[in-house]
Amino acid sequence: MKELRREILRLKEFRKAVILSHNYQADEIQDIADFTGDSLELARRAASLGDSVETVVFCGVYFMAETAAILNPSKKILIPDPLSGCPLADMITAKELSELKADNPGATAVCYVNSSAEVKAVSDICCTSSNAEKVVGTAAAAGGRVIFVPDRNLGDWVRRRTGADMIIWDGFCPTHDRVAADDIAAARLKHPSAKILAHPECRAEVLELADEVASTSGMLKIARESPDAEFIIVTESGLLWRLRKENPSKKFHSATPKLVCPNMKKNDLHKLHRVLKSMDAAVDVPEDVRVRAKKAIERMLSVK
Ligand code: 13P
Repeated sequence: MKELRREILRLKEFRKAVILSHNYQADEIQDIADFTGDSLELARRAASLGDSVETVVFCGVYFMAETAAILNPSKKILIPDPLSGCPLADMITAKELSELKADNPGATAVCYVNSSAEVKAVSDICCTSSNAEKVVGTAAAAGGRVIFVPDRNLGDWVRRRTGADMIIWDGFCPTHDRVAADDIAAARLKHPSAKILAHPECRAEVLELADEVASTSGMLKIARESPDAEFIIVTESGLLWRLRKENPSKKFHSATPKLVCPNMKKNDLHKLHRVLKSMDAAVDVPEDVRVRAKKAIERMLSVK
């Protein structure tokens, strides 16, 4: 393993590459990455890479690598396993969103970043789990209805927080949506003094039982700053590695073994090595789609 890591670092230098990793990636990937973060942090990082970077190896699911490609047309964007898709992103097509917009003229189309480049291209603005409330709140304050796609749980949570008039698509993340209130009750019984942190992709019945609702990096911040010493984590299990590493004196429990995303776990060091060697798993977005999708992402990045 040491030899493999050394070889990855050598190739990374040779390819003038950076390795970006989502908080859900396997420990070994997070450990070798130049930067690990949540979806918004990764989009910001991808938007600010300097000219000295020629290649980005994006360790996450496909739409995340696509976002990096949309923001960096002159760089080569690679993904260790191009089959690491996102079932939530696949739950709406650009045609379906266009029809929804046609049925609701004047509404602002907000798409969760967990969507294809084509869907982003027909959206007015993107959001992630950490800025959805702000993005929707701003759109709603400007007047009119908000179309929110594709995650119904995040949309529902944002509607409760903002009171916005929203049309919400019926998509969901299978990993988060399969967690039930009973799972949280069982975890609470097992760890009665732990604080419960839940991701807004969970169902309302789960969010109601949580002490805090936050994105993955939001959870890292809460764990770091809170005086509490024990937490039940209701999001994909990959986050536990960083939580434990950054807070060695605190305890973290996954709410349930159901919280494993098979797609996030498809990337590994062998595939990362292979892609840096072959340079052949490039993520390409057609130029007309890229230009339109970039506008929706840049609008999101300008929301403070
Ligand atoms: P964040 O990266 O915003 O925490 O959300 C994770 C996610 O949505 C992956 O599906």
